Amino acid sequence: METTPFSVRLRTESHDQHTEAETSTFMSDLLGGRLGVDAYARYTEQLWHVYSALEAAWDRLADDPVAGPFVQPELARVPELERDLDFVAPGWRGTAPLAATRAYAERISECAREWPAGYVAHHYTRYLGDLSGGQIIRGTAEKTWGFERKGDGVRFYVFEQISNPAAYKRSYRELLDEVPLDDLEQRRVVDECKRAFALNTAMFHDLGAQFPRTA
Ligand code: HEM
Repeated sequence: METTPFSVRLRTESHDQHTEAETSTFMSDLLGGRLGVDAYARYTEQLWHVYSALEAAWDRLADDPVAGPFVQPELARVPELERDLDFVAPGWRGTAPLAATRAYAERISECAREWPAGYVAHHYTRYLGDLSGGQIIRGTAEKTWGFERKGDGVRFYVFEQISNPAAYKRSYRELLDEVPLDDLEQRRVVDECKRAFALNTAMFHDLGAQFPRTA
């Protein structure tokens, strides 16, 4: 009988994949201020495709016993991404995703349709990350490309309706711990979480191929 809380399993068992995503060449170059704003814009476009898939599922999943509790409108990122993109990449609408981004978004949609618990793994991997390390990315972007603090360009990283991110993350973890899953299903969701990280890493790889460091 597994007694470790599910939220702890997710965090500890995806730790290596987190490190891999965080230290990918594209992320390191972005955070090291070694890329131009065009790379940041392209990255933000990829996020739009990912979050469009995540949030398009909300209506369908709102009443689902497993994924429903995670449908929280204060997390919505698509409107913020659209404002950021209108600012950093006017004309971005209709641009195709990179191949890895398309595969990532398709997997999210597939889980939303067929496996709500798997969808939760994707939800966790993105939104809890944005509420955590996302704040580091915002600071770097403001400094590197001169965006106004918490303004256009970095609104994606600002959760206007979440006044206390630490408290929010605590209650999010409590929600995870309450998800009705047996041990085997928990294990499958942890695997999907690792897959979600790998899909992010693949997206960074595609971006890195397009934007080799400039300095
Ligand atoms: C260079 C980029 C990144 C940095 C600097 C970073 C940094 C961090 C930090 C410091 C935390 C811990 C915050 C806390 O305990 O409150 C964290 C948590 C997290 N990060 Fe990242 N991260 C990065 C990239 C990513 C990526 C690409 C993803 C996935 C797409 C991700 C997903 C997560 C998740 C899900 C958590 C929450 C872990 C938990 O408490 O359960 N991070 N990150």
